[in-house]
Amino acid sequence: ASGTDYQAEDAVITQGAVESNHAGFTGTGFVNLDNVVGSAAEFTVTGGGTRTITVRFANGTAVARPMDVLVDGVRAGALSFPPTGAWTTWQTLSLQAQLGTKIKLVSTSADGGPNLDKITI
Ligand code: GCU
Ligand code: CA
Ligand code: CA
Repeated sequence: ASGTDYQAEDAVITQGAVESNHAGFTGTGFVNLDNVVGSAAEFTVTGGGTRTITVRFANGTAVARPMDVLVDGVRAGALSFPPTGAWTTWQTLSLQAQLGTKIKLVSTSADGGPNLDKITI
């Protein structure tokens, strides 16, 4: 998709780490969120209006991993990241939201979120 990329490895990470051990990411790595409710990545973005937020992720397990999407601290939607077949297989999932400056993806299951490569807006 066209738009501006915001790399997850540049986000503010709550309970997670930047890693690069699964190929196929863009930028310099991806975020491995801890497998707990509440692990999160917060992106600072520019631009307003109703926009499509596209998340590039990998989920090498057999179970979808849900996250809330917060815009400026308010829940704007949710995404359930399906299995991608391998940690090295990356896919995208999108939602529309009214933009603010802070986009925070927060894990809502005990599995944590998927590995996050970047978002594009
Ligand atoms: C594996 C994988 C990690 C992933 C984790 C998980 O450990 O190497 O990249 O984050 O599983 O289940 O979340
Ligand atoms: Ca993880
Ligand atoms: Ca990345």
